[in-house]
Amino acid sequence: MSSQSLISIAILALVISFANSYDPSPLQDFCVAIDDLNGVFVNGKFCKDPRRVTAKDFFFSGLNIPGNTSNQVGSNVTTVNVDQIPGLNTMGISLVRIDYAPNGQNPPHTHPRGSEILVLIKGTLYVGFVSSNQDNNRLFAKVLHPGDVFVFPIGMIHFQFNIGNVPAVAFAGLSSQNAGVITIANAVFGSNPPIDLQVLARAFQLDPHIVVELQAKFGA
Ligand SMILES: *[C@@H]1O[C@H](CO)[C@@H](O)[C@H](O)[C@H]1NC(C)=O
Ligand SMILES: *[C@@H]1O[C@H](CO)[C@@H](O)[C@H](O)[C@H]1NC(C)=O
Repeated sequence: MSSQSLISIAILALVISFANSYDPSPLQDFCVAIDDLNGVFVNGKFCKDPRRVTAKDFFFSGLNIPGNTSNQVGSNVTTVNVDQIPGLNTMGISLVRIDYAPNGQNPPHTHPRGSEILVLIKGTLYVGFVSSNQDNNRLFAKVLHPGDVFVFPIGMIHFQFNIGNVPAVAFAGLSSQNAGVITIANAVFGSNPPIDLQVLARAFQLDPHIVVELQAKFGA
């Protein structure tokens, strides 16, 4: 094989390996996060001196405790990401517990930095995500029972709705140490400062009075 094609293969392999990992991959055994030093930021967090790292840096307790679902949407997400477990820094994974009251929902939202794989432990959920404009905004939806698993690809708007008459509980893994959340209604109608009324009225084909009402509901 010519050295030129070897180089091409090496470059291709490099490109593919980047495409396969979203969060940066670790370049050492671990890089346990410490708080930023005097407002200097890196892409992620600083690493603690490895000699000072202990088991505590990889530990979290309390995912057995349900979140309080007495709120507007009837659900509660308990997040275990790099802010709760500093040892997740550079690992590209995190975890959540989601509790749903009967009729509760985790409203349409997206994770800008992570795909999600959810397993239902208790109850019945109607879940789904919508693909991008390029794929004609198709809805992929399913009713989940205990033991069922569903995937929400990175960036796609998705939701879960408890259609049972008992509380539901799910756990989900995310392919980021800090996947981020954008709740669509809050971001659009509750931004600070508010998005111009005319923009939202035209975008959502709504009477401006309804936009004002929605903005009031979401605290803009
Ligand atoms: C979620 O549950 C926790 C623990 O009960 C509570 O402190 C928090 O306020 C709840 N969050 C929401 C959005 O209701
Ligand atoms: C859950 O939240 C509601 C509303 O904030 C509050 O009234 C209630 O006491 C909380 N329940 C528990 C078990 O903490």
